[in-house]
Amino acid sequence: MFERLEALPADAILRLIAEYNEDPRAEKIDLGVGVYRNSEGETPVLAAVKEAERRLVETQTTKTYIGSGGDPAFNRHIQALLFGDAAANDPRVVTLQAPGGSGALRIAAGLMLRARPDVRIWVSDPTWGNHVPLLGGAGIRLETYPYYRAGEAAVRFDEMLAALERVPEGDVVLLHGCCHNPTGMDLSPEQWREVGDVIVARRLVPFVDVAYQGFAEGLEEDAFAVRHLFGRVPEMLVAASCSKNFGLYRERVGSLSIVSAEAAHSAVVRSQAFNIVRTLYSMPPDHGAAVVACILGDGELRARWLSELTEMRDRLRDMRVLFVDALRDSAPRHDFSHVVRAKGMFSFLGLGAAEVARLKSEFGIYMVDSSRINVAGITHANVGYLAESIAKVLP
Ligand code: LMR
Repeated sequence: MFERLEALPADAILRLIAEYNEDPRAEKIDLGVGVYRNSEGETPVLAAVKEAERRLVETQTTKTYIGSGGDPAFNRHIQALLFGDAAANDPRVVTLQAPGGSGALRIAAGLMLRARPDVRIWVSDPTWGNHVPLLGGAGIRLETYPYYRAGEAAVRFDEMLAALERVPEGDVVLLHGCCHNPTGMDLSPEQWREVGDVIVARRLVPFVDVAYQGFAEGLEEDAFAVRHLFGRVPEMLVAASCSKNFGLYRERVGSLSIVSAEAAHSAVVRSQAFNIVRTLYSMPPDHGAAVVACILGDGELRARWLSELTEMRDRLRDMRVLFVDALRDSAPRHDFSHVVRAKGMFSFLGLGAAEVARLKSEFGIYMVDSSRINVAGITHANVGYLAESIAKVLP
């Protein structure tokens, strides 16, 4: 049976992790996968997470099954984080724990296909490298709307809006709630309002992916898009991840929230979502979600986590400024000032594939082929080498 299969290339982002790990050069720099690194270039377990884990080890009395929707306490806390405290128990919203943001996207795809077999989703051009394979692989038809071109000062907002105005009624629009991946270029609150106007007028269904809440402006500010749209549309979906803001990458913690037009639909939606989960992986892993629920449910731990989140956000912002200053010295003819305006972990440098390849082979600097960089890989120690190396490959 298996002799019929053909080998596939490894995922572009995940391949970089392996290539970087195998590179023996001491000066190598990892700007690839979206993982936070501190000023020493490490990704330590957050102190709030360590403390929550200690408490769980001491107090947890059973490892028995918990159910397809995961931990109800986690779901309540995450629903409040995304939609606001007032919506924590809103009966129109069903939130279920998922194995990471990717798992949430996959459940959402299954649910939409059941609700509407010919469903079509519009994704930004560009979008996260796994959106199209994941949603397309689940059997969903995909189209794109213009969003941003490498090196430009801002989102191509007029083109985006004009494209959304032509999207057929009832179609789904995938939006990045904050820290757009791969560009780092976000919409302003005013622009979100305009997007909301088009979504309402065209009766589109927003599907918001929130993988970096707290990494752009703050926990509350980064929920603006979700909360604004929630206040305006009858139906929407939100896939969220705790990989980055809780540093729980390998624990696979995420959530899917489904908003129905009427509270009466929620029981049916829940039963369908649970059935999809049961037939895919039965139920989500518990540990990471239990950690998140423990942190969010305890005032002191929550405050400690918020301060660690602020520290991560501030460091990303500082590294953007440091990097652009260093590039101004090393490559004065080129303008990289857009990097400072981007939010979260990523920026597009606007380099060609040949330049990206040279940075890897000649200098041990790893980034995604599109020239997306993760600014968390920048430190005071490596920024000089990084900027000089980029200057050497620029035309
Ligand atoms: C990224 O874009 O690098 C992250 O979201 C990690 C991943 O799974 O691709």
